[in-house]
Amino acid sequence: MYKITEKKVLNEQVTSLTIEAPFIARKVKPGQFVIVRIDEKGERIPLTVADFDGEKGTVSIIFQAVGYTTKKLAALSIGDFVADCVGPLGLPTEFGNPKRAIVIGGGVGCAIAYPQAKALHNMGVKTDVIVGFRSKNIVILEDEMRKVCDNYYVTTDDGTYGEKGFVTNVLKRLISAEKYDLVIAIGPIPMMKFVSLTTKESGIKTIVSLNPIMIDGTGMCGGCRVTVGGETKFACVDGPDFDGHLVDYDSLMSRNGFYREEEAEHACRLGAYNNG
Ligand code: NAD
Ligand code: FES
Repeated sequence: MYKITEKKVLNEQVTSLTIEAPFIARKVKPGQFVIVRIDEKGERIPLTVADFDGEKGTVSIIFQAVGYTTKKLAALSIGDFVADCVGPLGLPTEFGNPKRAIVIGGGVGCAIAYPQAKALHNMGVKTDVIVGFRSKNIVILEDEMRKVCDNYYVTTDDGTYGEKGFVTNVLKRLISAEKYDLVIAIGPIPMMKFVSLTTKESGIKTIVSLNPIMIDGTGMCGGCRVTVGGETKFACVDGPDFDGHLVDYDSLMSRNGFYREEEAEHACRLGAYNNG
């Protein structure tokens, strides 16, 4: 059993939980994920580690309460326990030796972009952060991000905060004005696709973190297969980071929609359960 030691509601849908998991906290590196199961009969959900503290023995996960299990997870409180927290899983991010980097977070993807920006900042890399949200009221992790970057750019789709438009508008402007040798993009699949198309023209190394459906998280079920450079890869053991210029985003989008009806049905059942 793994105890919840801290809980923060970041916006109406997004929650941060800090969990006591000393073994994972000592080993985990940016880019890796854990699989959490709330109880014995629970679904296994993969969540990238948003932060960790080896001394305190804790890992933090940030998630959007969209489905049955994430809504149940968001309803837990400090002092509650989850049955399992397995990890660290996946490969750590390979940053190389960049001189100047851009980290891009789209919506709740900022939770995963944050440890990347922090790691680059701690390596002494000049790092700019671009974040994009639909609207001002759902902006998350602004203070945290500002502390680990040289320049912070925020966009909103509706223009209620920062610059109106998508993250790719700022990206185009930055890379046409300055020389960057690494871009990391984490967020919705269309965002990662269009960021990669933008950086491909200038040949800037681009890393994306993929979030396909996962089951075991250890390379056995094949559920998380993605096509990268024409080859089949398993995101849980070969990723979740991949070369953004080589990912087949359209097949990833189509595979991620396979269980939409079942997910909606489970969410309805939870609604009925919560309303008595
Ligand atoms: P969202 O749909 O509100 O998009 C966030 C931002 O992404 C937008 O404000 C915009 O700046 C950018 N964006 C979206 N579509 C774009 C496009 N076509 N071109 C350029 N930029 C675009 O995000 P949300 O509702 O917070 O959802 C977050 C998404 O991130 C979910 O789909 C979730 O599955 C995904 N996610 C991915 C990971 C990962 O590891 N890749 C992790 C967590 C969440
Ligand atoms: Fe089963 Fe990756 S989750 S192979």
